[in-house]
Amino acid sequence: MSETARIILNGQEYELPVIEGSEGEKAIDISKLRGMTGYITLDSGFKNTGSTKSAITFLDGEKGILRYRGYPIEQLAEKASFLEVAYLLMYGELPNADQLSYFTDSITHHTLVHEDMRRFFEAFPTDAHPMGILSSMISSLSTFYPESQNPNRPFKDIELTIHRLIAKLPTLAAQAYKNNLGHPLTYPDNKLSYTENFLNMMFGLPSNDYTIDPIVNDALNKLLILHADHEQNCSASTVRIVGSSQANLYSSISAGIAALWGPLHGGANQAVIEMLETIREDGSGLQTWVDKAKDKTDSFRLMGFGHRVYKNFDPRAKIIKKAADDVLAALGVNDPVLDIAKELEEVALKDEYFVARGLYPNVDFYSGIIYRALGIPTEMFTVMFAIGRLPGWIAQWKEMIENGDPIGRPRQIYTGANARDYVPVENR
Ligand code: CMC
Repeated sequence: MSETARIILNGQEYELPVIEGSEGEKAIDISKLRGMTGYITLDSGFKNTGSTKSAITFLDGEKGILRYRGYPIEQLAEKASFLEVAYLLMYGELPNADQLSYFTDSITHHTLVHEDMRRFFEAFPTDAHPMGILSSMISSLSTFYPESQNPNRPFKDIELTIHRLIAKLPTLAAQAYKNNLGHPLTYPDNKLSYTENFLNMMFGLPSNDYTIDPIVNDALNKLLILHADHEQNCSASTVRIVGSSQANLYSSISAGIAALWGPLHGGANQAVIEMLETIREDGSGLQTWVDKAKDKTDSFRLMGFGHRVYKNFDPRAKIIKKAADDVLAALGVNDPVLDIAKELEEVALKDEYFVARGLYPNVDFYSGIIYRALGIPTEMFTVMFAIGRLPGWIAQWKEMIENGDPIGRPRQIYTGANARDYVPVENR
């Protein structure tokens, strides 16, 4: 007999089905609850609420497991290329040689951005945050491809939009950076791989050759893979909910970029480095900052610590910590901020406050240190996260459209004023 849950309201019993995922995760299906009982559930921040069934990413926060389409993140980060992983997430299977060649070729040939968009860059202040620029630019792409407006087009049209997005995001990101520097743009080079091309557009100049260090290129490939999807997080849920109104894919991704920007989500990688630098300059010692983070009257939190679902360890942080050591050693970089990060981790992991709450370093704690070693400026860190996360957002959007999910529209418990009559201004 299949498992059910019983709920008793005002003496009346209702039976609710229990559904089980392929990894044994269980949920009480409340989709008919309001119709049956007149009640809704309340779960601020969706801490106990599944918003969808999904076949893309499996995550076990207690055991520190992360798998894309069944493949462990450790194997993908070690052996795959970012475009292979992007294909896996969006199409459901690893590509064979022909599929990978078709996909790579299509991405390579859509990297150019319409020249008219250069005028948009000119209008931004030179100190504009690149995440603001990126979100605007991605939304603007929809105006250049009006045929992309309808998400229910034949798959080959949707596929073109998907390929354009994967191809153009690194170009727009590098252009945002060059624009802030006031440097001439370096255009995409079709001879280069996805990651090499991005590095060349960031650091190459039209006037001279930039040599791509394979250590830097490998580290970038690994970082993008580690960020590629993370099931129903804040930005993925944003993409799904915006897309559920049948808004076009460009606008949905633009909204995802905006959600990622926040320091509690992807913006934490920038915030971590800023925090470590502040701790170094302050010189009052690590314990002062750990105590500040524990003080409930102080809004300061240890950035890069804690996670909504990982309460044991973040498997991505484990891989990144080792990669940070390898990259710094290989490039001969001696970063005092890395030493502070390691000391801080040691102090916090022994502290009862952090232990009791399951607060461990997350993916963002060490990623910024590698980005620094690769020469990426701090304000671009969250942009790097966005480039990595793009295939995940697209896979989530595509699954939502293919499943025919309804528009996302939560309910609420109203706590405002009861009905009252309008009072003219002179009588108030
Ligand atoms: N420093 C100090 N205390 C913390 C921290 C922290 N970084 N994170 C959580 N806590 C405390 C929090 O005050 C609460 O304490 P209490 O139970 O006494 O009220 C308890 O731990 C639970 O925290 P929460 O805010 O209820 O947990 P959450 O699941 O809502 O938040 C989080 C998760 C990631 C937003 C939070 O841990 C945080 O703000 N971390 C710092 C920002 C950060 O590094 N974000 C990147 C997340 S990983 C990248 C990504 O996937 O987005």
